[in-house]
Amino acid sequence: EKERTLGIIKPDGLSGNYSDRIKQVILESGFNINKEMVIQLDEENAANFYAEHSSKPFFTNLIKYMTSGPVLVMILEKEDAVIHWRELIGPTDAGKAKITHPQSLRAMCGVDIEKNCVHGSDSHQSAQREIAFFFKEAPSAFKTEAV
Ligand code: CMP
Repeated sequence: EKERTLGIIKPDGLSGNYSDRIKQVILESGFNINKEMVIQLDEENAANFYAEHSSKPFFTNLIKYMTSGPVLVMILEKEDAVIHWRELIGPTDAGKAKITHPQSLRAMCGVDIEKNCVHGSDSHQSAQREIAFFFKEAPSAFKTEAV
């Protein structure tokens, strides 16, 4: 059955001009890009999106990183999209991904455990929440730009 997941190209991915290569890999891997938008998150948006990490030691830096420039948010559709997108992006730590998953997107464009270049929902439930967060619940909260 077709499933949808949320993908984000994080600020370093966009500023590093990786988005065309990433989208090429996405399409070649059989995903459909249903919707996409470039947005600049503010601290409140980012803190809400990453609410589950609010007590983590890396939270403050994560919010700084995710608000450091625009991000590209995409709804990706495919059979079992959540797991397939997680496989394609590779492990959270991009430094390790370069060794263990050299073909992954994080190996291609990420730097370390924080600056890992791309996001993927970690479950079907998270995907639904994250898609609603960006595309349904409060679209007017974002400065959106169609691409
Ligand atoms: P992601 O898994 O997409 O969502 C949570 C993000 O927090 C993660 O990507 C990294 O960008 C960041 N992150 C996770 N773990 C750490 C960590 N130990 N140190 C710094 N940043 C982290």
